[in-house]
Amino acid sequence: MSFIIKYVYVVALATILIFLITVYFAENFKVGRNFLDSSPVTPPGSKYASLDACTFNSRRTGNLMFALAGLLFVAQNTRRNPILPTNIPYGWMDDYFNTSSIQRLPNEFVYDANKTVVLKERFGPFVYDPIFENPHKNSTVESKEIILLCGYFQNYKYVEKIDKKLKMIFTFYNETQSKVQNFIDHHKKTSAKNRSNVATVGIHIRRGDFLIKFHRNRGFAVVDENFINSTVNYFYKLWTAKNVEFILYFIASEDEAWVNSVVKKLNFARALNKAAFVFSTSNGGPFDMCLISMCDGVITSSGSFSWWAGWLANTTTIYFTGYPRKGSALGEGFDRKTYQKPDWIGFPPEI
Ligand SMILES: *[C@@H]1O[C@H](CO)[C@@H](O)[C@H](O)[C@H]1NC(C)=O
Ligand SMILES: *[C@@H]1O[C@H](CO)[C@@H](O)[C@H](O)[C@H]1NC(C)=O
Ligand SMILES: *[C@@H]1O[C@H](CO)[C@@H](O)[C@H](O)[C@H]1NC(C)=O
Ligand SMILES: *[C@@H]1O[C@H](CO)[C@@H](O)[C@H](O)[C@H]1NC(C)=O
Ligand SMILES: *[C@@H]1O[C@H](CO)[C@@H](O)[C@H](O)[C@H]1NC(C)=O
Ligand SMILES: *[C@@H]1O[C@H](CO)[C@@H](O)[C@H](O)[C@H]1NC(C)=O
Ligand SMILES: *[C@@H]1O[C@H](CO)[C@@H](O)[C@H](O)[C@H]1NC(C)=O
Repeated sequence: MSFIIKYVYVVALATILIFLITVYFAENFKVGRNFLDSSPVTPPGSKYASLDACTFNSRRTGNLMFALAGLLFVAQNTRRNPILPTNIPYGWMDDYFNTSSIQRLPNEFVYDANKTVVLKERFGPFVYDPIFENPHKNSTVESKEIILLCGYFQNYKYVEKIDKKLKMIFTFYNETQSKVQNFIDHHKKTSAKNRSNVATVGIHIRRGDFLIKFHRNRGFAVVDENFINSTVNYFYKLWTAKNVEFILYFIASEDEAWVNSVVKKLNFARALNKAAFVFSTSNGGPFDMCLISMCDGVITSSGSFSWWAGWLANTTTIYFTGYPRKGSALGEGFDRKTYQKPDWIGFPPEI
């Protein structure tokens, strides 16, 4: 009898012990995994890279996309987890893309001065800075829990190393994609008159704030009539030689009136029944960037919105060589060869 009681006692104890161990591990597993919890409970020794608060100075989508590329570049090179603060002043790119794969942690955690070190871009907004290849060369930087990046990272050399990751994140919402597809299909039926072999060109003409004197003085520049005429003609010649029957030029611009006055003047537009210009009017930034990214050819102008529209399209792309203006403050140290994707075509040609 006493043997059986002892036996039951031991089994009961063992069961309780196993139960406690299971609960312990389950809890820890949950805590370790549950990154999206608001509390920054993370595996011990985790290190992070994030964007310094300096990034959030009312920059818009194209600029934020470059900043995110810079962050992923550094995170990959240092094997740190890329994170973003929960509250981003002036907004993020949520209208364009779902970036939920990047963990968000409370601002008090991300910007705790005792745990962070700020790494600043050294040579200006367009210039590749090799310091970001291996920030851990500096042992002070390496020892810090969080590296915060302060800069613009507007350079293809950051982007090319992480292009697969970026392509996944920079995927437009299905809703945007299907709206754009309907728009294209509609114009193939109407503007392109149901022709069978129709090619599309996405054109983004940046003007707006780039015309403000202060910005122009710093080196911002906009395209002129000759740029539009020549690049439009470039695609026309390229594709009619390849038996394209009709070309649809989709135009996105903050200054539709100006672009319209230009294309009306081009003898090209009047003379041909093989092409049409279609404005994307009041469809919003995400629609416009998505539209350009879905075209067979791209004409960009100046600025980061154009740049990313071209990058996303990943096809024959023409860019404006007058931006930033040579000899300007913004153009200092500028190296076109690393700013643009190497297969893009510059216009006007640089001597
Ligand atoms: C973004 O993606 C996540 C994970 O796939 C999903 O849970 C979430 O609902 C998405 N958000 C939006 C706005 O689509
Ligand atoms: C940060 O460090 C300073 C001194 O280096 C210390 O006085 C302060 O309490 C620390 N703050 C936190 C939140 O740990
Ligand atoms: C290492 O990084 C720290 C923090 O940014 C900086 O103060 C220091 O000058 C750096 N050391 C070298 C050798 O660059
Ligand atoms: C661009 O297209 C090429 C094939 O033409 C492909 O190899 C490459 O992965 C694409 N890049 C991106 C970023 O989509
Ligand atoms: C979006 O469309 C793709 C392909 O059609 C599909 O695989 C995916 O599940 C869709 N996503 C959502 C959130 O509906
Ligand atoms: C194009 O074809 C559709 C049917 O596919 C027809 O409804 C439409 O009228 C045609 N449009 C033109 C301009 O011929
Ligand atoms: C446009 O370019 C063509 C040659 O490509 C030229 O003949 C024509 O005069 C130009 N028109 C304007 C308005 O610049």
